[in-house]
Amino acid sequence: MAEEKNTMGKVLFTEQDICDKAKELGEQITHDYQGDELIVVGTLKGAVMWMSELVKRIDLDLKMDFVSASSYGSGTTSSGVVKITKDLSMDIYQKNVLIVEDIIDTGTTLNFLTKKFKERGPKSVKICTMLDKPSRRRVPLAPDYKGFTVDDLFIVGYGLDYDQKYRNLPYISYLEPGDIQE
Ligand code: IMP
Ligand code: MG
Repeated sequence: MAEEKNTMGKVLFTEQDICDKAKELGEQITHDYQGDELIVVGTLKGAVMWMSELVKRIDLDLKMDFVSASSYGSGTTSSGVVKITKDLSMDIYQKNVLIVEDIIDTGTTLNFLTKKFKERGPKSVKICTMLDKPSRRRVPLAPDYKGFTVDDLFIVGYGLDYDQKYRNLPYISYLEPGDIQE
């Protein structure tokens, strides 16, 4: 049984770790897109907290947009089928797009999204993910900017959920296999 309380003891990364990493990557992104415009696209809902830390630390003329794509049901395993449930509100033709993701697992979602976005004629499409779980990759996909690599655990907190819970944890934690009901 998952705990009913919205607190967990196992901290993988603290809020400070995440903010330090956002600063490091924000500076790198600022440098890489110097003199250029940027549309930062967050994937709902998981990437919202990471995106807010990151954009505060990017010193560029940028716009924010959001997309919602789902490849998961309410459990913890990917269905392999991706649907865009909320599309961008902006035109990305000839724009630099930076997709901000919470975690890359099998790679299915971002592989699909980058392909879809590239059909719209953007100047570039890059990926900045808070977490990467490379051991579970099913389609080849490498993020351009990466926060932390994690083992094959089910991660929660800082935007990441289990059945819509734990998104508001101010740190990154994980569920023990016994906590997960498939
Ligand atoms: P992918 O398509 O398999 O790469 O899955 C990407 C999406 O699945 C992520 O954006 C998350 O929303 C979700 N996901 C993957 N692994 C985890 C996890 O460990 N905890 C919570 N959500 C996850
Ligand atoms: Mg996500």
